[in-house]
Amino acid sequence: MQPKLSKKFPWKKLENLVKKALKKEKTGHDYDHAKRTVKNALLIAKHYKKVDYDVLIASCWLHDIVSKPSKIHHRIAAKKAAQILKKFNFPKDKIKAVQHAIINHNRAFSLEKPTPISKLSLEAKLLYDADMLDAIGAVGLIRAISFVLHTPQYQDMPYFVSKKDKLDQSFYGNVKYLIEISKRMMTPPGKKLGKQRAKILKDFLRELEKEC
Ligand SMILES: [Fe+2]
Ligand SMILES: [Fe+2]
Repeated sequence: MQPKLSKKFPWKKLENLVKKALKKEKTGHDYDHAKRTVKNALLIAKHYKKVDYDVLIASCWLHDIVSKPSKIHHRIAAKKAAQILKKFNFPKDKIKAVQHAIINHNRAFSLEKPTPISKLSLEAKLLYDADMLDAIGAVGLIRAISFVLHTPQYQDMPYFVSKKDKLDQSFYGNVKYLIEISKRMMTPPGKKLGKQRAKILKDFLRELEKEC
């Protein structure tokens, strides 16, 4: 089934805007990540009947539209997304819905108290799962390496210290956290895909333990 997208909205222009804005992004939050997030979202959304595809696809394209990723980038991206969509004459209520999805996409890394899952829209859950799917699996592994190499505070991070390593303590701890995330998907199809993709990370960690 083809997703029902508003024909009036300039989707290609939005995609090109994201491509241009994220051209210099090197930490794995680039145009290709946004594009894969759209792809992942469509993979999950096809299992649902009542999806607002305008909100979902706009949220996927714009969820990381910031110059530098940080623990509050969801807030910055939500603000920027509203400005962009307003210029494109996106309906007001849908802009609010996009902001809701974007604000809640970073709950696995943000320091803010997360909104209860029961209060999230379907599109917010779909964006969350689609984004997280791109943080695990083969692509997730490449992005994790890219993130560490291009983020000054993580550049000297050791590969492995002990099996107890946490997110910020080693690359091993970083990948271990990604496996944790794969268990926290919000939708059943997202959970299924998350489990499949996490396998490559588990195999990688087992090998890393042995070699280190
Ligand atoms: Fe993000
Ligand atoms: Fe993202």
